[in-house]
Amino acid sequence: MEFKKLRVAVDGPSGAGKSTVAKGVAAKTGFVYVDTGALYRTVGLYMAEHGIAADDGDGIVAALPNVEIKLAYENGEQIIRLGNEPVGAKIRTEEASYYASAVSKLPPVREFLLEMQRSLARQGGVIMDGRDIGTVIMPDAEVKIFLTATPETRAQRRYREQRQKGIDVTYEEVLEAIIARDKQDSEREIAPLKPAPDSVVFYNDEYDIGECVAFVVGAMNQAALDRKTV
Ligand code: DC
Repeated sequence: MEFKKLRVAVDGPSGAGKSTVAKGVAAKTGFVYVDTGALYRTVGLYMAEHGIAADDGDGIVAALPNVEIKLAYENGEQIIRLGNEPVGAKIRTEEASYYASAVSKLPPVREFLLEMQRSLARQGGVIMDGRDIGTVIMPDAEVKIFLTATPETRAQRRYREQRQKGIDVTYEEVLEAIIARDKQDSEREIAPLKPAPDSVVFYNDEYDIGECVAFVVGAMNQAALDRKTV
């Protein structure tokens, strides 16, 4: 298997550092980084902007055909447009996180985003992060990493990040939101958050970003070698 055609799945709970690590790997290897959480966040944003409640499953499903998402990659960066407008930071608020988690429980929403993700996967040379990448989106990915850390570590990281952005939250609020989201993501019936049986589970509480990136690139090199000798 040629290194540059590998497909890399990075799954795990929120705040595990998936996107930072995946972006780091993409920068080092020239792979395309696909942030699938951003797609669910964008569907959530649409609902929030149209006054559809996060718990109104029927309303969300009914509105789905009107959601027009466009994905582009500009200078290695994923740009998502809702209609014609780039969503930018609007999908990064706590409200958007809550909505994303709520919409992601609904099978029609997952179905709606499936082909977009699979067609990116087919090109190879991708590192994709999410919750069900190794289990549903790319079950045949050559590299599968389940990146995680304790809820407290993840809350601490997210708290620092939010404060840096000037968002006014407390550590306790962030921790509570993370625990609630973990529960929602892992207990849902469809595509629950769980490691693929053939994934490497990596607890990164004690590792910095550079070490995580090196770990993933190492796994990619190994996968390319393994596939060559088969
Ligand atoms: O990774 P994130 O925090 O941006 O994800 C936002 C929400 O979307 C999160 O609650 C889980 C959900 N999600 C999902 O169900 N499947 C994915 N592949 C990615 C995200």
